[in-house]
Amino acid sequence: MWDGRFSANTRSHRFSEQGGTLSTRKKAGQTPARINYEVKELSSATWPDFEKFFAKHNGVQGGCWCTFYHHAEGRLLKEGLERNDAIALNRKEKKTLVTKGRSHGILVYAGDQAVGSCQYGKKEELPRIDSGRNYSKLDLSADQGQKLWRLTCFFVDRDFRKKGVAGVALKATLDSIRKQGGGIVEAYPPTSKEGGSWALWFGTVAMYEREGFKAHAKLGEKHLLMRKTIA
Ligand SMILES: CC(C)(COP(=O)(O)OP(=O)(O)OC[C@H]1O[C@@H](n2cnc3c(N)ncnc32)[C@H](O)[C@@H]1OP(=O)(O)O)[C@@H](O)C(=O)NCCC(=O)NCCS
Repeated sequence: MWDGRFSANTRSHRFSEQGGTLSTRKKAGQTPARINYEVKELSSATWPDFEKFFAKHNGVQGGCWCTFYHHAEGRLLKEGLERNDAIALNRKEKKTLVTKGRSHGILVYAGDQAVGSCQYGKKEELPRIDSGRNYSKLDLSADQGQKLWRLTCFFVDRDFRKKGVAGVALKATLDSIRKQGGGIVEAYPPTSKEGGSWALWFGTVAMYEREGFKAHAKLGEKHLLMRKTIA
């Protein structure tokens, strides 16, 4: 059984429009993008690339460093930290989690630069979802004993957006989960794109539909719980 750790050796794959395994093309007839992407697991080995990528965007979403869903509740505010101290702590904490194999993600590279990421993990690693106002009301007792994975955050470099990078990250993430034994994979996309790029960190409904996810439950009026089982 997978123990939540990745080898320090970076597992990587190359994907291109011509390669067939992963494609940035979304609809039949659409002109394919001519960018070759490589994907790697977030690990101690790729941390410096992730760090550079997120530092370019000030830690992303005001300095979250993709730590939000790792906490069951809003710890930083409770501790009364100054903003800059909180950001620095997030960065340090993310590195520790990655080093210990408790924070997972796929990085998408254009050349040697990380330009996209998808955070994923086992249910226990991303407990903030459980305390969500709408999620916590769902009866998910049928999940007992099943392996459950979560997809919580996409982020794409501002200079590489609207080229299908998030779609590449999603495909590679599902591939990685498959290699780790599969299970139920869940996502929480908004039902509208009205908030634009900033509000689409969960991805879009259509992104998941293209990968075979189905709506499982409504999460209030504005989000869906979508699931796919990977054997
Ligand atoms: C949302 C985001 C991940 C999309 O990445 P991308 O590589 O540009 O997306 P893709 O080209 O693969 O397109 C995926 C979908 O997003 C939609 N999309 C992308 N940018 C959009 C925008 N500005 N407004 C509305 N929809 C948008 C595309 O139309 C496509 O929709 P579809 O699935 O319905 O066809 C990217 O804009 C981003 O990183 N935003 C910031 C999110 C963030 O802050 N994440 C960190 C959270 S800690």
